[in-house]
Amino acid sequence: MKLKFDFTAMTDNVIGGQGVSASDLAKDRGFIKGAFDKTINDNAAWRELPFDEKLTDEVESFCAPIRKKAEAVVVFGIGGSALGIKAAGWSLLHLNHNSLKKHRRGAPKIYVDDNVDPERLTALLEVINIKKTYFNFITKSGETAETLSQFLVVYDLLKRALGKKKAKEHVIVTTTMESGSLYDVAVKEGFKIFGIPKDVGGRFSVLSAVGLVPLSIVGLDITMLLKGGAEMDEACNREDIFKNPALMAAYMHVKSMRAGKNISVIMPYADSLKFMADFYAQLWGESLGKAMDLDGNRVNVGQTPVKALGVTDQHSQLQLYTEGPFDKIVTFLAVEEFRDGVIIPDDTGISDFVYLKGHTFTQLMEAERKATACALAKAGRANYTVTLPCVCEYTVGALLTYFMYQTAFAGAMLNVNTYDQPGVEEGKRSAYAILGRNGYENSCMDLTRFGDDFIIDE
Ligand code: PA5
Repeated sequence: MKLKFDFTAMTDNVIGGQGVSASDLAKDRGFIKGAFDKTINDNAAWRELPFDEKLTDEVESFCAPIRKKAEAVVVFGIGGSALGIKAAGWSLLHLNHNSLKKHRRGAPKIYVDDNVDPERLTALLEVINIKKTYFNFITKSGETAETLSQFLVVYDLLKRALGKKKAKEHVIVTTTMESGSLYDVAVKEGFKIFGIPKDVGGRFSVLSAVGLVPLSIVGLDITMLLKGGAEMDEACNREDIFKNPALMAAYMHVKSMRAGKNISVIMPYADSLKFMADFYAQLWGESLGKAMDLDGNRVNVGQTPVKALGVTDQHSQLQLYTEGPFDKIVTFLAVEEFRDGVIIPDDTGISDFVYLKGHTFTQLMEAERKATACALAKAGRANYTVTLPCVCEYTVGALLTYFMYQTAFAGAMLNVNTYDQPGVEEGKRSAYAILGRNGYENSCMDLTRFGDDFIIDE
């Protein structure tokens, strides 16, 4: 069940001057080793998560009874408090999990509401039975306005529907212990609280209670998810770049970035992996997009992540990738065995389309992906492929861990703080100012003082 990584089309052998050469690798040996050592020796807390058996037991025994009685579980969180759950959940659950009872194997429906669009919340409340729904509010800081707003609305509705005593049983809070406003409220109200380790940032927290609780409630095997993470952890701790896929990917990206490839396209060839692209986009964008390096130099570095879906986006974006500027790396996510098979029938009474007949959709997907990779390579475009033998808890845990290590190694190579997000925090402060939160009065720039010449009302 191991993942495979094929970086051939990142090299000069295939894409000529656009590629990375063996001599680049040899020259950069010290640089790569430095980034490897820095990452491995910094003992980042997220790297411990796949090995926390105590937490797995606690989560499983808490979630099992909820799985039996809940009709739905709703996750409220945003950014790193939502995207890992979507990435893993949507990969592993039936694509129509919420619509088809027989595929849920007795588990509840799941919704991850990571926006405060009023129509979305209203629409959600219209399809759930609040009395039979459990709500997991996830916020590492316990201060995020979006999640707290959702909490205020939903807890109020729950109390009205069930009374205070019962309402609180439907609320699970996942947050940093003993810190943040939501933690204080959760203690006061008597909600079940799961802790997020202090030193684990949102986008690196999917294998903590952040991901494990909702994924366990909907019946996924969190032990296998962590096992996949643990085994990928082992691969990512290998010093030899030819045996360490995350180190190789990080190097290929950083080397190519320095040669002007400022865009990282992630293109899963499987609908189930669609939200892996969102997970990767946040991890890569928020971790590496930094103004300053660790020595205090202004660097304004980063590589813009772009999400695409194969084959769908072959028919919208591929033209640009093949013939536009040489500013992209395309990462394909491939799947060998899909969970379902569809065969194109031979005997349809239609005499055309002979080349399609008798093939499976799996073969079709594979042919399209290989053809795209080949077309890109032929045009001198950097690309590489990560192949999952199948999409299951083990491979998904491995893939998530691979992405986190790739990001950590790249951050070390770029000499930036991979784990902070000052740009995001600035946005949060501005929102507090606009909403009138005490202490944030001057946090937002007043654009009206620049006049209205450039505002056009149709
Ligand atoms: O990765 C991150 O740190 C961020 O994307 C956060 O997850 C996001 O801003 C939400 O923050 P919080 O979990 O504190 O509500």
